[in-house]
Amino acid sequence: MNISPRLSQISPSLTLEITGKAKALKKEGIDIISFAAGEPDFDTPAHICAAARDAIDRGKTRYTPAKGMPELIAAVREKFQRDNNLDYPASSIIISCGAKHSLYNVFQAICREGDEVIIPSPYWVTYPEQVRLAGAEPVFLDSVEEDGFPIDRDRLVSLITPRTRAMIVSSPANPSGSGYSRDDLEFLAGLAVENDFYLISDEIYEKLVYDGFEAISIASLSRDIQDRTIVINGVSKSYAMTGWRIGYMAAPENVAQAISSFQSHSTSGPATPSQYAALEALTGDQSCVEEMRRAFEERRVLMIERLNRIEGISCTMPKGAFYAFPNISALGKPSLELAANLLDQARIAVVPGIAFGADGNIRMSYADSIENLNKGLDRLAEFVRKN
Ligand SMILES: Cc1ncc(COP(=O)(O)O)c(C=O)c1O
Repeated sequence: MNISPRLSQISPSLTLEITGKAKALKKEGIDIISFAAGEPDFDTPAHICAAARDAIDRGKTRYTPAKGMPELIAAVREKFQRDNNLDYPASSIIISCGAKHSLYNVFQAICREGDEVIIPSPYWVTYPEQVRLAGAEPVFLDSVEEDGFPIDRDRLVSLITPRTRAMIVSSPANPSGSGYSRDDLEFLAGLAVENDFYLISDEIYEKLVYDGFEAISIASLSRDIQDRTIVINGVSKSYAMTGWRIGYMAAPENVAQAISSFQSHSTSGPATPSQYAALEALTGDQSCVEEMRRAFEERRVLMIERLNRIEGISCTMPKGAFYAFPNISALGKPSLELAANLLDQARIAVVPGIAFGADGNIRMSYADSIENLNKGLDRLAEFVRKN
């Protein structure tokens, strides 16, 4: 029997696939350096793990309300107030099973059949598939690499149609590490008001920023903008909690209400011990966030400098997240083929740029030890020299 046409068009996440392949090879005893993972290499900070253990010991192992437990919703409201100068009522906040799940819910809630969602490219693999799963169409906004993938304003204006339902704002972005200035955000916000579409602001990397770049939440520009913005965030990246699966969003109340009902029939509330861990992450000692950010900053400089020293490779300096997105087009191979060769011959795992809509690039995470980064970069340099 066939599967539904809805799911038959969806491709698996290439990033998860490659990470899985690299892990399987490592398990077989093959010495692989993986630049593929989209997660911090740090363990979840001890005080956060302790909070989850304590919750389990206190019997906090039952269902919570479908939209998340009230204490965590209160902590998320405080976080928005403290970090983003955003005021939300509790009824606007939903806790979900990771920011990926929050985003999925949002597209399901706002997209109508045939709507268009503008996605700046290069883009995170999941956005277009989630848009398609909601019956809408992704519309890609290309950007120029040399200047760090800025918004092409004229091109953006030309892509807006009466069917434009939303635009994704992701700053800093995965995979390019690009980020928007206040002026960029004001421009985007102006277009959203003028053309009446939603802004979906994915702020998952907001704390991982470098060289003084500030990740401003577009929702904070004005009350008007906040009313048409859905802010997505989570604990995965800032607190090294990818496996706990807690994300959250803040949305206009009618959208949040619809998502709350939807979630009550799909996943129910996220795992209760994980919610206690996220509560500790958001309300406890924040010094771990800065410690990890500093480590990423040091690795970022090392990786980008070394990449730029390899003939045939060039890489812009990312403003945030933990990925380098080097241009490999001078090496003369499509990104998928290059990634396969690198895994087979150089024993390094990278994600082909084609997964992000940029076949001339590969994504290399620098969320690994300096020692491993150097070892992997030695292998890359050697591979390029020989080929
Ligand atoms: C841009 C972006 N948004 C959202 C997510 C989802 O994070 P999670 O579902 O772990 O909270 C990721 C993870 O890779 C990401 O890169």
